[in-house]
Amino acid sequence: MRDGNPAPVTRLTDYRPPAWLVDHTRLDVDLRDGHATVTAELTVRRNPAGDDRPGELVLDGEHLELLSLSVDDRPLGEPDYRLEEGRLTVPGVPEQFTLTSKVRIHPESNTALEGLYRSNGMYCTQCEAEGFRRITFFPDRPDVLSRFTTTIHADRAAYPLLLSNGNPVDSGDEEGGRHFATWDDPFPKPCYLFALVAGDLACLEDSFRTASGRDVALRLYAEHRDLDKLGHAMDSLKRAMAWDEQVFGREYDLDIFQVVAVSHFNMGAMENKGLNIFNTSCVLAHPATTTDAGFERVESVVAHEYFHNWSGNRVTCRDWFQLSLKEGFTVFRDQEFSSDMNSRAVTRVENVDFLVNHQFPEDQGPMAHPVRPSEYQKIDNFYTLTVYEKGSEIVRMQHELLGAEDFRRASDLYFERFDGQAVTCDDFVACMEEVSGLDLSQFKRWYSQAGTPLVTASDRFADGEYQLTLRQETPPTPGQSDKQPLMIPVKLALLDDQGRALPLDDSGATETVVILRDSEQTFRFPVATDRIPTPSLLRGFSAPVSLRYPFKEAQLITLLAHDSDGFCRWDAAQRLYFAALARIIDDGEDAAAQLDRLTPVLEQVIQRAGEDPAEAALLLTLPTETAVGDRHTPLRPQAVHDALSALRAGLGEALAASWWRLVEELAEPEYRADGEAMGKRRLRQVALGYLSAAAGAGRGDRDKLVAQLQGMLDAPTCMTEELGALRALVHNQLPGAEPALAAFAQRWRDEALVMDQWFAVQATVPGADTVARAEGLLAHDAFEWTLPNRVRAVVGTLVNGNPSAFHAPDGSGYAFFARALKKLDGINPQIAARLANGAARLQRLEPALAEQLSAALRELRPAASANLAEVLDRIL
Ligand code: PHE
Ligand code: ZN
Repeated sequence: MRDGNPAPVTRLTDYRPPAWLVDHTRLDVDLRDGHATVTAELTVRRNPAGDDRPGELVLDGEHLELLSLSVDDRPLGEPDYRLEEGRLTVPGVPEQFTLTSKVRIHPESNTALEGLYRSNGMYCTQCEAEGFRRITFFPDRPDVLSRFTTTIHADRAAYPLLLSNGNPVDSGDEEGGRHFATWDDPFPKPCYLFALVAGDLACLEDSFRTASGRDVALRLYAEHRDLDKLGHAMDSLKRAMAWDEQVFGREYDLDIFQVVAVSHFNMGAMENKGLNIFNTSCVLAHPATTTDAGFERVESVVAHEYFHNWSGNRVTCRDWFQLSLKEGFTVFRDQEFSSDMNSRAVTRVENVDFLVNHQFPEDQGPMAHPVRPSEYQKIDNFYTLTVYEKGSEIVRMQHELLGAEDFRRASDLYFERFDGQAVTCDDFVACMEEVSGLDLSQFKRWYSQAGTPLVTASDRFADGEYQLTLRQETPPTPGQSDKQPLMIPVKLALLDDQGRALPLDDSGATETVVILRDSEQTFRFPVATDRIPTPSLLRGFSAPVSLRYPFKEAQLITLLAHDSDGFCRWDAAQRLYFAALARIIDDGEDAAAQLDRLTPVLEQVIQRAGEDPAEAALLLTLPTETAVGDRHTPLRPQAVHDALSALRAGLGEALAASWWRLVEELAEPEYRADGEAMGKRRLRQVALGYLSAAAGAGRGDRDKLVAQLQGMLDAPTCMTEELGALRALVHNQLPGAEPALAAFAQRWRDEALVMDQWFAVQATVPGADTVARAEGLLAHDAFEWTLPNRVRAVVGTLVNGNPSAFHAPDGSGYAFFARALKKLDGINPQIAARLANGAARLQRLEPALAEQLSAALRELRPAASANLAEVLDRIL
């Protein structure tokens, strides 16, 4: 639909219970070359809890060719039913009946990747949020739960494997070399959790014994060539299953759990009941082809989808406004899992870094919306960082407020009380209140109020009493100008000059949580010291707020060196970097002038790096250009780029000896997969990054560095090292970069996920020249518009991760962006709309750039899909 019309607005306040329920859904899917025929037999009855309405059944359906329709075996023809855009209305139906429909669909030409489609010779489905209506006519809403029995027919040779949700109950041969399989899912589910796969796939099989002693068959499927890349996902899955039993008391419920890897996929993965479908990038992993970051991502996404079996599937959402009920909670669960499997402090910093540098900007821009939105045009546009990551923080705050024990009791109550139901965020919070006795009515504003609260702290110290005053204010967001005070837990400690945490009360506790409820409150702490302490604020990032406090440089250095809280150490380092960059960008100071202040700080971190290399890597990493740009108004991308490049090169040169020592000491003769080895590789990459930046600026021993990188490329121990070396050469335009790119492509041309990285490395070379290079990438033989991972690798990374190219002064980046969006919108509107968010900083740009970007976007608007139109209208 490229009609330029936005979709009608759906509002939370308009929610009505479904008029009809579908107790049983019998699907018969016949897959043929060129089309598929879907016969659906729905056992329908009036919802006793529904509104009193006339005997009229309304079903959703899009892109379906209706072949036949009958009610209780009585064939219907028009005008017995009405077929309109997106829906089928059948008037005069009885209180209870069986509706049978037969439709034809065209998976081959489905490039939107919603509903039933083909990917590399297999068939698969994606139904969340509203894809099931592209498979058959159905009440496509999450509060209609139905039992599904599914039969699939296909050619046996081409599609030996036929999968759906639940348990296999029947299979056999059919005429003409075809076969069938029938699956039955005993758990009623909303249709967004339906899935089907047909293909010729390899399987890694294992099993898991649950706490109650049942054996569950675990089957992971991928293309045959990728069979050796499924081991890590299997290990992660088994760990996730055990963890959910221990930490949340949740056991798996079916006898089979299946995962299928698919190359063409709009998102990361999908939690379909008993049959998860994954983007290959979130399930395949092998040290030779996957970086350490990729391994971590697989572990967390496999866990995330598995955890949905309870938080999402057994207990699901009443309507799509409640999306965070399942997503925020499940992100919280996967973050906790990752914290338990890896370093908790490092995991927390990674999660906070992501939230602060990606969700905060969303919350401060034109797409700002509450964790529970109150209206949308296309729900696809609301699978956002706000719903996911901020939603997780809201659950985390409840965990903090209740304490681990009560939180567990409350989550048990939630799962037991609402098992098999479709519920709301209010139902979730009500369980927290019931168990704890806390009044969370003010807290619930976190769900309905958009925007990042700004908390401003100030303090006084007199007569042995430390007074901390906290003020909160949430800036207006689109459609929500008046903001009310939120309930904000602020965890804190007070450090003396030596960095020791002071006792805060008679019990000797050195950490406490104060709860800010009003717009301004003062908290008093008697402390045994004669100098004003250094506050360690928002420990563990106890609330998703932006904290302002006039830290002195010496205080930040104290926090960085001595604070026992990992988030506060990292935050102190970030504040030092942002301050130095502000002096360059805003005050016109020289980058060189910052080195005297920063090098001793970094040197100290490097000295102690052996204690925890992964944390040292985080502390030594400068903020990205995007993060720095977001802290200066108006946004001047080139100035930010120049400042960061100069600072990085300066630090690379000034600390060259230390960086080289790290590069040498951290080298490992052989690949190891454990966390310690990963931490070392990470720190080594940071060191090489600084040295390469210096070399790129013509400083330091360039020949030695290039030789080092070439060595890593010629005999890599793993993809982390190989890709790291390639990126260092290419991003700093060092000698040998182009031949290295060519050799890499030659070596990896058959590995799609590695080629995605090859494209991404080139699209993220800083500087305006990259736009021309990216045009070349779009023309490359291996570039495919229908492959979302590839599009993200080129267009997504340039737009979202390469400000100095995207905002090229001549507007070429915007022209590139607009052309890509136009092309994509005709192929896959969800992906186009998602990428369009790259323009969300439009209103913050310096005027010359803003004008060019908005002109480019305005041109797209008339022919935009409903998905893209909603995003463009918000931005423009
Ligand atoms: N529900 C999926 C998840 O978060 C995400 C998803 C949404 C996938 C929509 C596909 C389509 O796990
Ligand atoms: Zn999810």
